[in-house]
Parts: sequence; structure tokens; C-alpha cells
Amino acid sequence: MLMSKGFNTMQSKITHVFVLGSLCLTFYCLCTADKFYNRGNHEWTKLFMVQHWPPTVCKEVENDCRDPPDYWTIHGLWPDKAGECNRSWHFNLDEIKDLLPDMRHFWPDIIHPSPNRSQFWKHEWEKHGTCAAQLDVLNSQRKYFGKCLEFYKTLDLNSVLLKLGIEPSVSYYQLEDIKNALTSMYGVIPKIQCLPPEQEEDVQALGQIEFCFTKDLHLRNCTEPEVYSPFLQDALLTDEASMSHGLSVCEDGPVFYPPSEKMYH
Ligand SMILES: *[C@@H]1O[C@H](CO)[C@@H](O)[C@H](O)[C@H]1NC(C)=O
Ligand SMILES: *[C@@H]1O[C@H](CO)[C@@H](O)[C@H](O)[C@H]1NC(C)=O
Ligand SMILES: *[C@@H]1O[C@H](CO)[C@@H](O)[C@H](O)[C@H]1NC(C)=O
Repeated sequence: MLMSKGFNTMQSKITHVFVLGSLCLTFYCLCTADKFYNRGNHEWTKLFMVQHWPPTVCKEVENDCRDPPDYWTIHGLWPDKAGECNRSWHFNLDEIKDLLPDMRHFWPDIIHPSPNRSQFWKHEWEKHGTCAAQLDVLNSQRKYFGKCLEFYKTLDLNSVLLKLGIEPSVSYYQLEDIKNALTSMYGVIPKIQCLPPEQEEDVQALGQIEFCFTKDLHLRNCTEPEVYSPFLQDALLTDEASMSHGLSVCEDGPVFYPPSEKMYH
């Protein structure tokens, strides 16, 4: 009895030390990952050119999203692994005056269409543009927004989807079919994001398609593995998810590509 009690105490002490040690280690890792992510290190390796499907974006927020465009629009051009790289580099609408007609048409703020549409562009510039600006070809607001519009036109996603026979529909697609069709057209694997179903019997809705570019601005796969710490990866995935609101990578299986209200009528 006595021996066994002593042994148990010993064991529980060891467990305590171990748990405490693990906690400290976890805390230390979280802190350093946070430091690494938030301060100083703004290294990134690829750019996501992100386009979203307005009817799904509207479902996601359920606010005054009246009459959204019935074509894919730009969400942004995002370096991976970096955000808000220069907080003193403020958005200046004057620098992109000549782009405004295209900006309004291809890069509208779906969620807050009024009163000030440029808030969305300001957010994208300050969060992502200031990091993308590490590249000479993107080192001004004119270049950043201009290049993104250029990518949008070159990728020409709306026409490509039509050509592939992938149209908004009340019947469902299989994720694999959409993915394979896009991959065969573009030669690289995109990242496809969905709005998860609200109820079990619903089906995920196609929300966002992201194409990846190298720092030389060549298309690349979005899927290539990166080697970095799992802690950091977690922190980053969380941030990436929050950038795209309620969207997450689509799961294999059926996908709903929702028609806009306009298409019903
Ligand atoms: C941040 O942006 C400001 C304004 O463009 C610029 O003067 C400054 O050099 C930038 N800082 C860094 C670290 O790039
Ligand atoms: C809209 O927002 C931009 C960026 O924040 C600002 O420069 C501009 O003055 C605002 N325009 C209006 C009409 O409020
Ligand atoms: C993209 O991934 C596919 C399949 O894994 C591979 O065959 C292809 O070579 C990759 N393309 C590039 C540009 O890395």
C-alpha cells in the first residue's frame, strides 16, 4: 500500500513536471510563431490571385447584398505567409484613378456596395498589397491593382468556365470534375474554396477560386508542399481562413454553383 502510494505520488509528480514542461514549450512555440509571423519576417513565397462568386459571397454574409454581379469578381492578390507589411503606406485612391472603371466593374465590394466602395480596396492594399510590394513589379498601388486586373483578364475565368460547360446550375457538380477541368485548362492546380453547408442535408457552395503565382509571376500549383513548422502553419491557416470569412477548402463530393437571382428570372 505504502509503496504503491509513494510510487503514485512520484508518478504524478513526473506527470506534473511533464505537463508543465509541455505547456511551457507550447506557450514558447506559440509566442515565437506569433513573433515570427507578426513582426519583422514578412517573407513569402507565392501569390494567390483570388476570385469569388458574388451569389455565394452574399449567402455568406446575409446582409444588404442586393443585385450582386453574375460574373466572377476579384477578391484580391495575396502573398502567402504575410500581412500588413507596412502600416505607414496608406491607401491613396488618387494613384489608381485611371483604373477606376475597371476596378468598379471587376473588383467591386460585394459585401458593402455602398456608400464608399474604396474601403475594400484600402483593406486589400493595406493587408496584402504592402507585402506584395516587395516585388519591383508590384511596388506601388498603381502596379499592384493594375497587375491584379491584368491577371484577372488573362486568366479570363468567366469565359473558361463557360467553355468547360461549368455554369451556375440548380443541379450539382462533383468537386473533382471542376478541379480537373480547371487544371487541364490552366496547367496548374487551383485552390477551390466553398461555403460549407449550413445544414447536413445541404451541399457546399462554390465560393472562391484561387490561382497561385511564383514570385516571377508565373502560374504554379497551389498545392505544392511548403516546409515549415506545424505551429506556424496553424497560425497561418487560421489567418487565411479569416481573410476569406466563412469559406474553406471544398471537400470532395457534390458542389452547388448557385445561380444568381437574376438568372432565375
Ligand atoms: C513603408 O512605406 C512608406 C511609405 O510608402 C515608405 O516611406 C517606407 O520606406 C516603407 N517602409 C518599409 C520598411 O518599406
Ligand atoms: C472613401 O474611402 C477612401 C479610402 O479610405 C478615402 O480616401 C475617400 O476619401 C473616401 N471617399 C468618401 C466619399 O468617403
Ligand atoms: C502541378 O502538379 C501536377 C500534379 O501533381 C504536376 O504534374 C505538375 O508538374 C505540377 N506543375 C507545376 C508547374 O509544378
